[in-house]
Amino acid sequence: MESVLIAMIDFHNHILPGIDDGSSSISESIAMAKILVELGYNEIHCTPHIMSGFYNNNSKTIKNQCQKLQQHIYENKIDLKLIPGFELYLDETYKKKMIDCEDIIQKEILVEGPIRSWPDYLDMILIDIIERGYIPIIAHPERNIVLQKDLSYIKKYRTMGCEIQCNILSMFGTYGKREQNYIEELLVNNLVNYLGTDMHSAKVPISHYQEAFSMIRSKVGNHGFMSLTRG
Ligand SMILES: [Fe+2]
Repeated sequence: MESVLIAMIDFHNHILPGIDDGSSSISESIAMAKILVELGYNEIHCTPHIMSGFYNNNSKTIKNQCQKLQQHIYENKIDLKLIPGFELYLDETYKKKMIDCEDIIQKEILVEGPIRSWPDYLDMILIDIIERGYIPIIAHPERNIVLQKDLSYIKKYRTMGCEIQCNILSMFGTYGKREQNYIEELLVNNLVNYLGTDMHSAKVPISHYQEAFSMIRSKVGNHGFMSLTRG
């Protein structure tokens, strides 16, 4: 009989307060943590943006906020483990940003590009990151208007060695119909590696996530859903 408790993990989250466009305060982060636990999560990757000129995060800013928030979470008796990470915006500064995060960098790196374009130079950066021994996880490709047009982009990136993270709320239709259709296509073609909430605040009703969970289960089955939310 199965009795091992397996962690349910959120792979993309902006719960750390005050360091990007996510949570604005400790109290909002605590509200987010409560929602996450109610949804069934017990581990989350804290992935604040690292974006030159906007969010100049590094190992120190991320680790500090992560330790501080973890303390508050435990004091509030919430059973949620925080893992420090980041969401790296792919531009010409990516190598420096990776060095700035050397204390918390893992083999798999969550990366994002622009939403309204997908410049050719991104391929060169992704190849370089792979050649450096890392695995780029492309964040929410279903939200990109170029990638949405053709599944062959993602097939190419998977073959190249990238992994794919999609946002749970894309399935609910939060970002629009095209995003909803495209995540469905990615899921049924088995092109997704990880799901994430990409939660920026405690404002989205919990029912939206729950509805999205059941819509995703209806596409990939319960076992498929579990494999996308487990480490
Ligand atoms: Fe994000």
